[in-house]
Amino acid sequence: MEVVIAAPEELTGLAADTIEALLRSRPGAVLGLATGSSPLPLYDELVRRHREGGLSFARARAFTLDEYVGLPPEHPQRYRNVIARELTERVDLAPGAVQGPDGLAEDITAACTAYEDAIAGVGGIDLQILGIGTDGHVGFNEPGSSFASRTRIKTLTEQTRADNARFFGGELDQVPQHCLTQGLATIMSARHILLIASGRAKADAVHQLVEGPVSAMWPATILQHHPHVTALVDDAAASRLQLADYYRSTYAAKPAWQGL
Ligand code: F6R
Repeated sequence: MEVVIAAPEELTGLAADTIEALLRSRPGAVLGLATGSSPLPLYDELVRRHREGGLSFARARAFTLDEYVGLPPEHPQRYRNVIARELTERVDLAPGAVQGPDGLAEDITAACTAYEDAIAGVGGIDLQILGIGTDGHVGFNEPGSSFASRTRIKTLTEQTRADNARFFGGELDQVPQHCLTQGLATIMSARHILLIASGRAKADAVHQLVEGPVSAMWPATILQHHPHVTALVDDAAASRLQLADYYRSTYAAKPAWQGL
């Protein structure tokens, strides 16, 4: 796993450079999109490059990581609405080019299978953007999730519901208890994973992600088994990394042409 420790603006630029390079070399690339606060500066930067630098998403496709179960169609925190607001309506992604798990499906199991089929049907995800939960979840694969899991329904932990209450006016009881999420095996199938983490609250999870034993108690640790993961972390999120100086010097010595 490559660990890049830098100021948030630099991390945003690096992530945007990576996505831009992918889209310029493969305009029909398949992106995996996360919600939550971590990728928002990146989405703003991609929108800026679209408007000012001609970056086009017209032939790209995208899949979101997860979705709350049961939020009404117009709910502002429904993840397909969040992604539409934060990214897809602000760039030139084609209508229907972005899919997400259907949290209102009558047959949840069938909807999850259909979602896996849709991802496989386009040849898989080229680049997956991830955040990480304070409890080490990726997607909404909470502690105890199977490393072999595919898209399915999960119950959110109290920790995650409390963390996400800020998106629901601070009201914990408004945060759904269930979600649909790509599984850990689904996420592991992406060809390149960019994980973005900032702030002190993520320091334990980032330490486990990079340096901890691989354990279902910290689901993100499965990413240690992926051949191409880039962890983009700010100083606060990196504050518990034992080998932070090593990661810094390794990245500083990397030739700029190499990219992430
Ligand atoms: C969101 C998602 C979650 C978040 C994680 C971090 O689609 O899958 O794993 O990435 O909860 O959330 P933020 O970025 O809000 O700290």
